[in-house]
Amino acid sequence: MCGIIAHVGTDRALGPLVTGLEKLEYRGYDSAGVAVKNGNGLDVWKCSGQVSELKDTIDTVESSATLGIGHTRWSTHGPPSDENAHPHTDESDRVAVVHNGIIENYESIKQILLSEGYEFTSDTDTEVIPNLIAYYLDRGNEPLAAFKHTVADLEGSYAIAVVVDGNDSIFAARQGSPLVLGVEQDGYYLASDVPAFLDYTDTVVYLEDGDTVEVRTDGVDIVDENDEHVQREVQQVDWQPDETGKGQYDHFMLKEIHTQPTSLQKTIEGRIDADEHVTDLDVDLDLTDIDTVHLVGCGTSYHAALFGSSILNRCDVSARAIRASEYDVNTGTPPENTLFVAVTQSGETADTLQALRQASDVGASTLAVTNVVQSTAAREADEPLYIRAGPEIGVAATKTFSSQAVMLTMLSQHIARVNETASRVNNVGQLLSDLRALPSAVDRILKSSDAGDLAQEHLDKNAYFFIGRGLGCSVAKEGALKFKEITYEHAEGFASGELKHGPLALVTERTPVFAVCADDCEKTVTNAKEAQTRGAPIVAVSPPSHKIVDTADAHLSVPDMHPVCSNLLANVQLQLLSYYCATELDRAIDKPRNLAKSVTVE
Ligand code: F6R
Repeated sequence: MCGIIAHVGTDRALGPLVTGLEKLEYRGYDSAGVAVKNGNGLDVWKCSGQVSELKDTIDTVESSATLGIGHTRWSTHGPPSDENAHPHTDESDRVAVVHNGIIENYESIKQILLSEGYEFTSDTDTEVIPNLIAYYLDRGNEPLAAFKHTVADLEGSYAIAVVVDGNDSIFAARQGSPLVLGVEQDGYYLASDVPAFLDYTDTVVYLEDGDTVEVRTDGVDIVDENDEHVQREVQQVDWQPDETGKGQYDHFMLKEIHTQPTSLQKTIEGRIDADEHVTDLDVDLDLTDIDTVHLVGCGTSYHAALFGSSILNRCDVSARAIRASEYDVNTGTPPENTLFVAVTQSGETADTLQALRQASDVGASTLAVTNVVQSTAAREADEPLYIRAGPEIGVAATKTFSSQAVMLTMLSQHIARVNETASRVNNVGQLLSDLRALPSAVDRILKSSDAGDLAQEHLDKNAYFFIGRGLGCSVAKEGALKFKEITYEHAEGFASGELKHGPLALVTERTPVFAVCADDCEKTVTNAKEAQTRGAPIVAVSPPSHKIVDTADAHLSVPDMHPVCSNLLANVQLQLLSYYCATELDRAIDKPRNLAKSVTVE
């Protein structure tokens, strides 16, 4: 969703600002803009559409400005248009603002400002911010004081960056939306996330909610929610700049599918003790006497939660996967001794954060299984469990699903061990050694997959169904989500047994059924046959020796490993299938229409 970049330094600011916008594109957006402070005022360029279109107008500009702000907007208040694009300015163009989040009391502020004669030109909530700053400037306040008065008046969630004509600072504030400071020798960056400035610096300061910041070339002043001047820890991120580029691949998604051997290796590293077959997660949280586990996430992360809940249940640990957006309506008060696990790649998904806060409020112990260090979920949960998958730029989650599922598998073994539950997952020794072998098994799939050929045969169908049972059901649901997201074709994932309770009515010879049989699942074979009898082509996603292969019309092969691993490998085959179908259909693979990488509104 919306992304912020701001820069103050000794060199021209436009280059880093535009690079930052390009790096933020993956979050999803429909308009973009920048504002810089020149010797004689503020220059603003903005438009609906792509950063490349904005760039075309800016490329002709000779600007020596060393300070500026930029924004990618994903529309909430008002449609995508040039007027609604950020930065927004006050009517006299003294103040320019970029904003991520929602100002809940913008209507009442707007009414006051309108009655004072201030004029508005957009449909956005954001436009009240520059006008309110102008209002305080008009009443004799210095820019910093005007900014602070304004922030004190705002309700809602926001990350804001502001430039004021005639002033050499960037003013910023964070409340409920991410904002990170990048530190380099001769300047600073502010951004919604680290990849925006990773080409320039990997030294960062994570700002806290309630912080207001003044950033100049020669220093930073951070004031916390209690109005105290504070120093925040300076940290190095261990992401490399080349991790945010496509490298040799045509798309980020393909790169991220192909880097799974490395990302999985990092997820597992140091967490499995091969000799003793135990997991060591280094969680500083008492996980004994847990009565039930709530695994909560959205979209792909919810499917990882489903996968994790199946494994926990197999370990005799009561667990439920719950969609974050349904948590308040479908869960009631979590019972005593509930462990709440937020599963979220970005750590910023509003629905998931809302559920996390609800569980924390009633005293549940909380964990965040997340990819982004110091994300809101990581900070608000009792303990973060980082999946260490590296930056994921493609909107469709791939490597992070695999890493989340592996992380939850290790967590399930940890919980089962510390609680001494009677039965840990079947054959735990094999599970842990197969998990260690998973990265190289993924590598073999990537080198040998027939998904590309199969994609050619299955274009132009009416709908695509994915079925599976147990762990295979989460994989089927994830396979269908990936397929619909990037091909724009209708795809659904079902528990295989459910097919005959309704969806079978849709089955024809033009609805291929992908049957995930990476487990010992006799019943899925029967369900696949039921679809085949009605004309549907069946594609088995299974080990070569599985009996479904005799029934199926086509086959995507996975090694016969522990079911946890074979199912994750089946998912890799389905990732490739979706990718190749979407490529044939010429879709916007890395930025599917209408979708955003990080969904920061409920
Ligand atoms: C699908 C996808 C989304 C996300 C969902 C949750 O490919 O990426 O469904 O999984 O928006 O996002 P996070 O994991 O950041 O909470």
